[in-house]
Order: sequence, then C-alpha cells, then structure tokens
Amino acid sequence: MPLPDTLLQRLAAIVGEGHVLTDPDLRAGYETDWTRRYHGSTPAVVRPASTREVAAVLQLCHEFGAPVVPQGGNTGLVGGGVPRNRELVLSLRRLDGVTDLDAASGEVTAGAGVTLAALQEAVRAQGWNFGVDLASRDSATIGGMVATNAGGIRVLRYGGMRHQVLGIEAVLPDGAVVSRLPGLLKDNSGYDLAQLLAGSEGTLAVITAVRLKLVPQQPHRAVALLAVENIAGALRVVSAVRRALTSLEAAEVFFLEGLELVCRHAGLAPPFPAAHPCYLLLECAAQSDESAALAGVLANAPGIRDSALATDRPGRERLWAYRERHTESISAEGIPHKLDVTLPLNRLPEFERRVRGTIAAINAGARPILFGHAGDGNLHVNILGLAPDDDRPDDAVLRLVAELGGSISAEHGIGIAKMPWLHLTRSTADREAMRAIKLALDPAGILNPGVVIPPA
Ligand code: MLT
Ligand code: ZN
Repeated sequence: MPLPDTLLQRLAAIVGEGHVLTDPDLRAGYETDWTRRYHGSTPAVVRPASTREVAAVLQLCHEFGAPVVPQGGNTGLVGGGVPRNRELVLSLRRLDGVTDLDAASGEVTAGAGVTLAALQEAVRAQGWNFGVDLASRDSATIGGMVATNAGGIRVLRYGGMRHQVLGIEAVLPDGAVVSRLPGLLKDNSGYDLAQLLAGSEGTLAVITAVRLKLVPQQPHRAVALLAVENIAGALRVVSAVRRALTSLEAAEVFFLEGLELVCRHAGLAPPFPAAHPCYLLLECAAQSDESAALAGVLANAPGIRDSALATDRPGRERLWAYRERHTESISAEGIPHKLDVTLPLNRLPEFERRVRGTIAAINAGARPILFGHAGDGNLHVNILGLAPDDDRPDDAVLRLVAELGGSISAEHGIGIAKMPWLHLTRSTADREAMRAIKLALDPAGILNPGVVIPPA
C-alpha cells in the first residue's frame, strides 16, 4: 500500500523536506542490512534531528497506523533494522551529540546516533574510556547498540551494553517521551525502563539518548596470540589467566579455517611458521605494564604450541587483525548464514566437536567457519555455501545449542533471523510475558513489527 501523500508532507514538515528520503538511490543504503541476507523496501527514510522531532514523527505514524523500523548504523546481523513489509525507516543517525561528560564521576550522555568510535574519542580526550568495544565501531551507533544489547570484545571485564547504561531517554510508539538521564547510580523508584529497553530491538520504544558510565583508561596493553590444540585447550589457558590477572580484557578464539580465509582476503602473512587447529587471542590492560606477568602465566599454562606477544600499538593491531577481520573476510567469500550462540563454558568443547559434523550431515557442501568470544562462551557459527533460504543447517545447529543448555542468540539479538527458533530456549511463559509487554507498550503494533515477537 502506498503511503498517503499527506503523511509524507506532514513528515517533511517535522524533519525538513531534505530529510524524508524517497529517492530509490538515497533509500538503498537503509534497505539492505550489513549481511546482505536481509533486505526489503521502504517508501521513505525519515531522518529526525532531535528527540522532539522523533516524538512528533512517531505520534504522526501512530495516528496513520504506519509501521516504523528504527535504524542506527545499520550494522545489525539478524535483519531487525531493515524494512521487510514497506515500513518507514526511522534513521536516528542525526542524533549525534555527546554531551554532559562528567569527568569527575565518569559519566556521559550520548545521542542515539553517536558512533561507538566517536564516543570513544570524546571520552578518551577526558581521560576515560568506554567499556564496550567491537569491530564495527566506526559505523555502529550507541542507540542501536543499546537496543540490541551489543556485546563485543570486552564483555569478560566490563559486561555488555546494558551494563553501561545508567539512564535512558526514549519515545514510545504513541509519541510520549520517557526520560531518566540524571545518571543516578542508585534509583529504585519503580520499574527499570532503561533495562527493559536494552535488548528490546526497537520493538517497544525508540531510544533517543542514553546516560552511560565510563571505565578508567588502561594505558598499558599486552596482546598474546597463542596456538592451541582445540577449544578445550583454549579454555584451560583462559581460566589460568583469569585466575592470575584481573587485567584480562579479551579472550577471543578462531580456527585454522578462518585464519586461512583472513590471510587470503586481508593479504596477511600467517602468524606462525606452522598451521595449528585453534588460536586464542588474549588482551590484558592495566595501569602498569603486565606483559611480564602475562608471559609468566602463559609459560606455565599447558598445551600452548606457539605464541606471539605484543605491547606496542602496531604489534597489537597486527595480532588483532587475525581476529577482527574474520567478519569482512567471510562476507567477501559469500553471504553466510550467521548463527551467534552461547554455550555454558563447560559445554563449549562438546559443541565445537559436534557442530561441524551436524552441518555436514545436512549439506556436505556447506562450509562452517567458527570464531568468537571464548571467555563468554560465545561462538559465531558462520556457514558459507548455503542457499539463502536453506534453513536446515541453522535449525540443526540451534537445536544442538538448546540440547547443550545454551542460548540461540548471544549478542546479535533475535531480529527476524532467529524468531522461528525462539521457542527452543525461551519457554512459553517467557514468550507470553514478552508478548504482554509488547502489547502494553505498542498496542497498535507499529514499532518494528515482526521482530522478536511473532505476530499473534
Ligand atoms: C564479532 O564478534 O566480530 C561480531 O559479532 C561480528 C560477527 O559475528 O560477524
Ligand atoms: Zn561477536
């Protein structure tokens, strides 16, 4: 159904004509997600510049019953931020102010459209740092990262996005604004709407700003890349380092199949003279140099076949590239099915042992590439060589996750990609409670319809 002209005219009156994009060339970048697996079309992309404008846009959409997909940096991987059935796209990128940085308490307010890299730069200039980091830092926006409760490479030490949030400002589907931005460490005055919205994937309200807590800068960093036999060996090393050093900030894992792909696509030389089945990357960060302490723990850790250690920035970045360039290298090879899952740490080795065979039993031509956040029990199972709509391997992998007591989504969310499998790891009572919350806040069902909660 085409949108009524009056709706488009009234949207233009709110945000300015130049910020209602209807030209197909201008809309294109908002209609396909980062994976290229999920895409649709929208009649218009609306780009408000303030909370007041977001509220007016939503009030109007509510009046017309026009569904809306909120979008930040469009770096999502589960199809939850792009239109599917001709919804309007509400881009939050122009809400890009970093304000009220309190250098004494270590708190800052970020507009929904601030990129992670811009936030990092702003707070580092004041002697602080931000607890969450991830490879898409130049494009991912803070509003989207809170809405999806993004994780990344430092969850082990600082938690995910929801753990950084002290307050939130958001617009409900009918245009009402809820706002708690004073940044109180203690606030037991009723339901915690900020935590409800963190991870709600744009289905309950549109986040416009967040009050975030900051973490101290750690000027001394040491990165170790280790070759090990398998993920069980990697976890033994992580456990030894965790018990010895509070400065452990990242523990990332990848395998030979991914390393070979990264070296080929990124033009990197292999890290070690010999190839090994599994690789573990550790980063410690502290106020003083902990590289000797890290080397000492690693010298006594079992099963390390080869290792490299770097403390200077170029050396650290060189080692990180083997891990961080996985996503782009996989995408350069094809459009993968991306399954982001968590397992209890003690079931992770069994999962890794079984998952490739599980996939091969369904499609011998499928090419699984695994990597992820070993310290969090979070593996990214990427499968190349599948038809876009062949979900049989996805089904088998997610059932294996459920059998081993894990979650079908660790940090990417449910979006539309995982919705058919939500029942595997969330009970009927859980899903009915979620549906009741959705109905209470968005009775007209205009906000990101069809995401997380299946249509009734
Ligand atoms: C990562 O850990 O690099 C991200 O979750 C992206 C991905 O899974 O491809
Ligand atoms: Zn990840």
